[in-house]
Amino acid sequence: MRQFGFDIAGTGFTYEAGDALGVWARNCPDLVSEICGVLGLSSDAPVSLNKAGDMPLSQALTDHLDITGLTRGFLTTLARQSPDADFAPLLDPARKPDLDRWLWGRQVADVLHDTRPALEAQDLVGLLRPMQPRLYSISSSPRAESGEVQLTVSVLRYACDGRARKGLASAFLADRCDGTDVRIFPQPSAHFHPPEDGARDIIMVGPGTGIAPFRGFLHDRRASGATGRNWLVFGEQHAASDFYYRDELQAWRDSGHLTRLDLAFSRDQAEKVYVQTRIEEQGAELWNWLQGGAAFYVCGDASRMARDVDMALKRVIARHGDMTPDEASVYVHRLQQEKRYGRDVY
Ligand SMILES: Cc1cc2nc3c(=O)[nH]c(=O)nc-3n(C[C@H](O)[C@H](O)[C@H](O)COP(=O)(O)OP(=O)(O)OC[C@H]3O[C@@H](n4cnc5c(N)ncnc54)[C@H](O)[C@@H]3O)c2cc1C
Ligand SMILES: NC(=O)c1ccc[n+]([C@@H]2O[C@H](COP(=O)([O-])OP(=O)(O)OC[C@H]3O[C@@H](n4cnc5c(N)ncnc54)[C@H](OP(=O)(O)O)[C@@H]3O)[C@@H](O)[C@H]2O)c1
Repeated sequence: MRQFGFDIAGTGFTYEAGDALGVWARNCPDLVSEICGVLGLSSDAPVSLNKAGDMPLSQALTDHLDITGLTRGFLTTLARQSPDADFAPLLDPARKPDLDRWLWGRQVADVLHDTRPALEAQDLVGLLRPMQPRLYSISSSPRAESGEVQLTVSVLRYACDGRARKGLASAFLADRCDGTDVRIFPQPSAHFHPPEDGARDIIMVGPGTGIAPFRGFLHDRRASGATGRNWLVFGEQHAASDFYYRDELQAWRDSGHLTRLDLAFSRDQAEKVYVQTRIEEQGAELWNWLQGGAAFYVCGDASRMARDVDMALKRVIARHGDMTPDEASVYVHRLQQEKRYGRDVY
């Protein structure tokens, strides 16, 4: 995990705890060279982009186009030149799940290496999507830190077919933006903020980078003098290497700003321990907080964690509130209607 801070002093940039930040990254020059090289194209070749106009190929690939993410349209065009490519049969709409699995971790350059298509510079730019910004939950509060907006980012680095690959924006932040101007924008969130009523208790479940907004919440509630109790459930793989904000969180627990800090390090013992393990262990206490009006928040991985935490919450409510599963679902639905169940999942 890396923390990044953007200097916003005097810029007019405003945000609230719980908002996200949009980041416009630039593609890695090594990846731009790799793509030009594999296609035998000069980086100076002139190209024309719909909105941005005329420029050299290297500028189009660095600043304007998504050269990491693969699209069905891109693969379909390449499959016409290389019908034997291993992805060609996966383009059948009936095989979408197989295509999605195959796409995971593969980038444009990997497919170009495998298929070596004959493409002119203008053909290439015509096949690529415009670059999109990436969103990051803001991990600071404007009440506590007025001159800087901060992020908590997991930097994506992995290998595909033996080639080192990295995520566009997370690696840009980690490797190439120190001391330079970066295009950012606030992305206000509609329903994911600390409660307006500072006396309300909050329970925050944020494994991995899901901790980001909750660090912002905790700074915010300390600065505003909110009197409600704060309970954080954090999880990661190993306590020794992944206990994000350890000193800050332990100091807040010692001072009482954090009433409870429950930790779930999944790989520090033989069996997996996840945030929902802690939620269920502390079910009676969690039920007491909810009955006392606490708001429940969850942030982080949408694909599995958020669903599993939702199921654990319902089991806790059913068990300690003596309800059937259906009644527990109605209780959770009511929490949502009362804006006491906030989710920021991705
Ligand atoms: C509202 C919101 C808030 C967010 N907040 C945060 C935050 O606080 N912190 C944070 O770190 N992220 C956050 N994210 C995620 C963030 O926006 C990016 O999606 C993330 O950083 C990856 O972007 P990237 O440009 O680095 O990677 P991309 O270039 O977009 O690459 C992503 C692709 O890499 C591949 N891939 C991903 N993981 C692996 C892997 N383990 N092994 C192999 N291949 C893989 C997949 O093909 C995936 O589609 C948030 C997202 C949203 C929508
Ligand atoms: N779609 C995917 O397959 C996938 C995989 C990884 C990450 N991601 C994405 O990668 C980004 C960054 O992830 P991150 O670094 O914040 O952390 P993360 O990958 O979400 O992991 C944080 C912690 O959550 C644990 N975890 C795994 N499955 C869980 C579950 N079902 N319920 C509760 N906890 C669970 C992990 O344990 P273990 O690792 O020990 O299982 C780890 O201890 C996020 O955008 C996330 O959505 C997606």
